[in-house]
Amino acid sequence: MKIKKIAVIGAGAMGHGITQVAAMAGFEVRMRDINEEVLAKAMERIKWSLGKLAEKGRIREDEVGKIEERIYPVVPLRKAVQGVDYVIEAVPEILKLKLETFDEIDEGAPEHAILATNTSALPVSEIAQSTRRMDKVIGMHFFNPAQLMRLVEVVMGEKTSHETCQATIELTKKFGKEPVICRKDIPGFIANRITIAATNLVCWMVYNGEHTIEEVDAAMIQKAGMPMGVFALMDYTGIDIAGHVLKFMAEREAHFEACPLMLEKLEQGDLGYKTGKGFYTYPEKGQWVMPQIDLQKAEKFDPMTQTYVVTNMAAELIRNEVATIEDIDKTMKLGFNIPMGVLELADIIGIDTVVSKLREFEKKYGPYYKPSSLLEKMVEKKELGTKSQKGFYKY
Ligand SMILES: NC(=O)c1ccc[n+]([C@@H]2O[C@H](COP(=O)([O-])OP(=O)(O)OC[C@H]3O[C@@H](n4cnc5c(N)ncnc54)[C@H](O)[C@@H]3O)[C@@H](O)[C@H]2O)c1
Repeated sequence: MKIKKIAVIGAGAMGHGITQVAAMAGFEVRMRDINEEVLAKAMERIKWSLGKLAEKGRIREDEVGKIEERIYPVVPLRKAVQGVDYVIEAVPEILKLKLETFDEIDEGAPEHAILATNTSALPVSEIAQSTRRMDKVIGMHFFNPAQLMRLVEVVMGEKTSHETCQATIELTKKFGKEPVICRKDIPGFIANRITIAATNLVCWMVYNGEHTIEEVDAAMIQKAGMPMGVFALMDYTGIDIAGHVLKFMAEREAHFEACPLMLEKLEQGDLGYKTGKGFYTYPEKGQWVMPQIDLQKAEKFDPMTQTYVVTNMAAELIRNEVATIEDIDKTMKLGFNIPMGVLELADIIGIDTVVSKLREFEKKYGPYYKPSSLLEKMVEKKELGTKSQKGFYKY
């Protein structure tokens, strides 16, 4: 299928970035939002970003105008999707709104057009049901900021066809991005699912008084070499972003219990630096400053706690044929800007160690943390990682 014209529906944080990426890749893009004012603001953000890229020499100065010319801001949805080959929806994460939007897109877009959703956690299959082309509906999950983050999760709905998947992978590559395939439509897909399960456990540890927020974040920086701790990171990205996925997983996943520590922040509207308060308090609303923490508190927390849970979630994805080992590590590296994949790291730690830690978590925090049968089998077969020359990878 030859894709020439693209429509991006919703021009907010993600939509304007996706529009820019598509225009930079040479596509003609219609960018749709609810009024001219929002569209003008989105266009301003795109111009600013293109200016920055030109300043850094990532694009040529004379390209900027041409890229801008390929973008057509449009208010009426029907007009935006008329005659396009591919639609990417990025409206707010509200299922009812997505369903209504897809219903209207389906009515107005040509029969051959593929309809993708950038949802972070809502079921692609449920969104597809509001169309009469379920085989042509797919998840195309970009990371924020879409202009810079290279990863895109391509999410198969129950009825998504092989052709739709292939066309989406090719388009992702044309955008200069790296696709990973999530073969089943599960809550949180790959990246959010595995990291939020781990974050939720750390939240429980704080909620139960075993650790403080500062101890956890200090250990992530001091011992794991992360640029910032897990709580500071949530304040930075917005607790509402992780919160949507958390709530959704709690609704749909057996044994998964969302920790009130995060739920309370959501209810109180303390969403991070953008509201002036999250897990930390900020001197000025909307102005990011790195929380100052006492790194000497790092001693008390084991930052590998998250690795054990992430490995377990990843093992279940492999066992259920949702994602490959390579795609999971690619997701972790590109989605979170870390140098090593979690499964590469698990091989170094030792699968037996991971399993014994998970058994402790299971006893203390319930069945959600029970070691995956895949990990148990690896231990039985002595596939323990680097020390036995075989784990997730061969050595
Ligand atoms: N922000 C992130 O970090 C992130 C990352 C990956 C995916 N996502 C997902 O992307 C989607 C959009 O998130 P966002 O952060 O860009 O939200 P946002 O609130 O910044 O932008 C949403 C935009 O959609 C517009 N809108 C509302 N109703 C519309 C309609 N009927 N038609 C067209 N536009 C409409 C709004 O005016 C707004 O400009 C969500 O599904 C979210 O889960 C967000």
